Amino acid sequence: MVNAVIYSSLTGSCERYANLLSAALHVPAKPLGDYVRPDGRVVYIGWAFAGKIVGYKKAAAKYDVAAVVQVGMAGGGDNGAETARAQNSIPACIKVFSLQGGFYMDRLPLLLRLIMKLKNKEIAAGLKKKASLDPRERALLTMATTGRGDPAAWDVSEIIDWCKAGE
Ligand SMILES: Cc1cc2nc3c(=O)[nH]c(=O)nc-3n(C[C@H](O)[C@H](O)[C@H](O)COP(=O)(O)O)c2cc1C
Repeated sequence: MVNAVIYSSLTGSCERYANLLSAALHVPAKPLGDYVRPDGRVVYIGWAFAGKIVGYKKAAAKYDVAAVVQVGMAGGGDNGAETARAQNSIPACIKVFSLQGGFYMDRLPLLLRLIMKLKNKEIAAGLKKKASLDPRERALLTMATTGRGDPAAWDVSEIIDWCKAGE
């Protein structure tokens, strides 16, 4: 039983996913740090920063985390969840999901903008070498080349199904 959705969001994607899950599951969505421990378990949603899920360690210490959702501009691909699990040392008892979020350069603080200007060049160069791109990769290429873009889909159906199956 999931009783709340907790999130950390810098530019809005994790917040948007948290609100979608909150509406579908009829549970509150609250920013990490704001919220007293609810009865029962939570889904934690955090954004990817160099492979790390921002706020995961804090969330795991504070709440009974049933599932973690990593949101990254490259997220949602094959093995995304298992890579996130390995890079963040998430134990097998916690379910991991990986979703693609948006990228909005203009909402970032200056230092992170500088880091991402370089990183985006690398991402775009890698994608341009591929013979064909799937919708997720096309969305990522738009983000990397224009500095702005939404994910291929804002889709939380996999997480909703998993939560409902556990009720
Ligand atoms: C400094 C920095 C590092 C990032 N590292 C990654 C990464 O390792 N993998 C990834 O897929 N996305 C990465 N991103 C992209 C964000 O995770 C992505 O834009 C996410 O949707 C942001 O969520 P938010 O809008 O809730 O803040 C990075 C972004 C920044 C600013």
